[in-house]
Amino acid sequence: MSNYHIKHLEEYFQVYRKSVREPENFWEEVAEEHFLWRKKWDKVLSWDFSKPEVTWFEGAKLNITENCLDRHLATRGDKTAILFEPNNPDEPAEYITYRDLYERVNQFANVLKDKGVTKGDRVCIYVPMIPELAIALLACARIGAIHSVVFAGFSSKALSTRINDCDCKVVITADGSYRGAKTIDLKGIVDEALEDCPDVETVLVAKRIHSDINMKEGRDEWLQPLLDKASKEGKAEVMDAEDPLFILYTSGSTGKPKGMVHTTAGYMVYTAYTFKNVFQYREHDVYWCTADIGWITGHSYIVYGPLANGATTVMFEGVPSYPDFGRFWEIVQKHKVNQFYTAPTAIRALAKQGAELVEKYDLSSLKVLGSVGEPINEEAWHWYNDVVGKNKSPIVDTWWQTETGGIMITPIPFVTPTKPTFATLPFIGIQPALMDESGTELKGNQVEGRLCIKYPWPSMARTIWGNHERYRDTYFSAYENKYFTGDGALRDEVGYYRITGRVDDVIIVSGHNLGTAPIEDAINEHQAVAESAIVGFPHDVKGSALYGYVTLKDFGEARNQDNLRKEINQLISDRIGPIAKLDKIQFTEGLPKTRSGKIMRRILRKIAENNTSDLGDISTLLNPEVVQSIIDNKL
Ligand code: PRX
Repeated sequence: MSNYHIKHLEEYFQVYRKSVREPENFWEEVAEEHFLWRKKWDKVLSWDFSKPEVTWFEGAKLNITENCLDRHLATRGDKTAILFEPNNPDEPAEYITYRDLYERVNQFANVLKDKGVTKGDRVCIYVPMIPELAIALLACARIGAIHSVVFAGFSSKALSTRINDCDCKVVITADGSYRGAKTIDLKGIVDEALEDCPDVETVLVAKRIHSDINMKEGRDEWLQPLLDKASKEGKAEVMDAEDPLFILYTSGSTGKPKGMVHTTAGYMVYTAYTFKNVFQYREHDVYWCTADIGWITGHSYIVYGPLANGATTVMFEGVPSYPDFGRFWEIVQKHKVNQFYTAPTAIRALAKQGAELVEKYDLSSLKVLGSVGEPINEEAWHWYNDVVGKNKSPIVDTWWQTETGGIMITPIPFVTPTKPTFATLPFIGIQPALMDESGTELKGNQVEGRLCIKYPWPSMARTIWGNHERYRDTYFSAYENKYFTGDGALRDEVGYYRITGRVDDVIIVSGHNLGTAPIEDAINEHQAVAESAIVGFPHDVKGSALYGYVTLKDFGEARNQDNLRKEINQLISDRIGPIAKLDKIQFTEGLPKTRSGKIMRRILRKIAENNTSDLGDISTLLNPEVVQSIIDNKL
């Protein structure tokens, strides 16, 4: 027996021990008993972190959509697979059964095939949170095309960079999207992006906001008429275990975004197994993850993990504040949601509104509360636990990353006792290590260091699209024979982990990973700007917000500060997206630098945090005098 569903602490320890002592036997049993294979593997695992090369279930053949759809038809054909809750609360919810979903995925897959998409082709998906988004992912997987979803809040420039990086010939989008009281002209953004993407041949457009949009002859087509004509049946392409399933871009601290490549079998097994246990999902539960499918959380825990378990997964189109800040709770009551998974930034924003908006609704269906994306602070944890969970629904603070594919450190609800702000224990099969700066592993408890993982797990990313060297350098070069996460963490007296935050130049704003370099590049494009540096500073809702220090070519120009600030934020919005806008922009006469010319972000970070009592020795800087002037003019 593979202990697919862990129910008490003793069992967790026992299964964990097995997963570490005999990882191959352990994962083989999980894979064997709970999934549909066209052919079983020849070898469970091969790995070499120095290359790095990792393969799971080598030789196996499967299609992930047969696991998410076909195999449920006999027993769950009429069960709701996707429960779509629209932006507008007056529009009825849509209940898409497993049979409906199977048929709609086949129709979409047949349309893609008709457009010449074949196994291994990359398809860009830039679609808001409407059912077509989930269906598009599954349709690609059905025919073996590699999907590359770009969050539909990214700018045209961010979109074109991602389309070109992995050479997509087909783009799926919508005429527009609803976001609270606003509508967004998505197709306009796509048109602008495609001016820089000469290789895109086909754009398929879903209808959502019924706006009058421009359709380019020979390139753009409305999706619905094509779907209506397509067959509801279709054979799934037989894939190798290690065939890429998707590419998903994540920010790096430098350079262009990294296209993380996830492969088929390991990703499926791990996301399904974590979903079942971390949310303790049971057959008639309604599960809701509020993330957007544009991020890894949506890929793994709105689409693949839940559907592989035959779950009912809610997809919400809107925002937590529309029509008011009670919307999340209204949805929980309306659909009797049992597991609710959201981000600390949303919890903080809702907590600010007071308890009345929560108490208005019946939340008695809730069994498990999840948190993901950034460290959850003590105050938010207690509010979530007490006001939302009424002290009876355990909080699973799940730590993981785009790169890890699935949840890595987390409590198992009703199994692992929770502790505020702690992600607690490694999930089954995960072997974390804390390292000091010299590269030595810190053994024992009550230690703090850099978080690494020292053994492969099935859903880890296999490479960066088109740049394996960067994959090695970023994740496998800092510590020998270990995957380096980029996060710091501590282990307490009982072995519980608490993630302390990024140790590189990635800043997490409202749960979104933002690299500083691309934002600085955008600012530096402004003709008045000489150079800039971005740091994070604490923010009560966003967790961290961005503080920009900007040196102008001619300091006299700072007379027009407000306009300059607007122009700089507009540039950032155009190049990356509104999420990367700066909260504060301080114009400086210079930036503190080492003698070799490196900007001292550590000092700038302390100033932004109002923590100037201990700036360390600044006398060795190239230009120590600028530090005082920056402090004096701090915003
Ligand atoms: O710093 C960690 C933080 O988010 C980073 C990964 O971001 P991304 O790839 O966008 O994936 C987010 C959703 C999985 C991590 O390196 N992070 C994520 N979850 C937590 C967290 N930090 C603390 N606690 C968490 N639960």
